[in-house]
Amino acid sequence: MNNVIVEVKDRVLRIEIARPDKKNALTQEMYRAMTAALAAADADAAVRAVLIHGARDCFTAGNDLKDFLDRSSAGGPSEGFNFISALPKLAKPLVAAVGGSAVGIGTTMLLHCDLVYASPGARFQLPFVPLGLVPEAASSLLLPAIAGYQRAAELLLLGQPFTAEKALAAGFVTEIVPETELLEYARNAAASIAALPPASVRLTKQLMKRPLGQAVPAQMEEERRIFAERLGSGEAKEAMTAFFEKRKPDFSRF
Ligand code: COA
Repeated sequence: MNNVIVEVKDRVLRIEIARPDKKNALTQEMYRAMTAALAAADADAAVRAVLIHGARDCFTAGNDLKDFLDRSSAGGPSEGFNFISALPKLAKPLVAAVGGSAVGIGTTMLLHCDLVYASPGARFQLPFVPLGLVPEAASSLLLPAIAGYQRAAELLLLGQPFTAEKALAAGFVTEIVPETELLEYARNAAASIAALPPASVRLTKQLMKRPLGQAVPAQMEEERRIFAERLGSGEAKEAMTAFFEKRKPDFSRF
């Protein structure tokens, strides 16, 4: 079953996350497909922009938690890390349409996007601390830079779900668009970019990303190192087991 659909149309490469029975939670195979799609977009001169979206009521529930539990003792780089490492390297503009839940990497990947459209019902969450983990995708650098330290600290330390309005105020959502128009709106934005002079678009993106260009991969690497340690922690095991057992986690013994 193909949980990632990739299509090129009108010079826009579209990536659709499609695993509805598990709220679009991302597996190693899905990350691999998305990383390959980003590479294909950059390699193909006919592609001028990339659009990423999920379902109308769910962008993605983030990394598959079963996969996190399985990998807690495995170690080594994951396909998820390869995917987030590819995001800041993408030369072409990345447009996201976010409806419903955008959890974990579902929110952190947006910090690398150029345009982010969200429906009024979109729900974002950075639950790394409640899961016994630490932030990834350079979100511990990018979110304070985009939103300001205290706004970022609330979202990253408490790790609670927040609204599209709050994401707009935090600065990583471009615009809130009615749910029924969301995908078309984002598609039109990507098509508008695709119609512009491609070198000028590419160079402008490059210039905007330049100031944090070296800091982003360095922060990702440091996060990856600590994240891998945290995956094996008792705190993370308790948090994730509690999710699947549909109960509240108990951190009182740590
Ligand atoms: N990994 C694996 N399975 C997941 C998942 C994830 N990240 N998110 C959801 N699922 C599964 C659930 O286990 C459930 O499976 P089941 O039907 O076999 O029991 C199914 O998807 C539906 O999830 P459910 O929680 O019932 O949906 P909901 O609409 O009530 O809530 C979310 C949606 C996204 C808010 C909620 O599923 C959630 O919080 N998921 C975990 C998010 C997370 O912590 N991600 C990791 C970030 S680092």
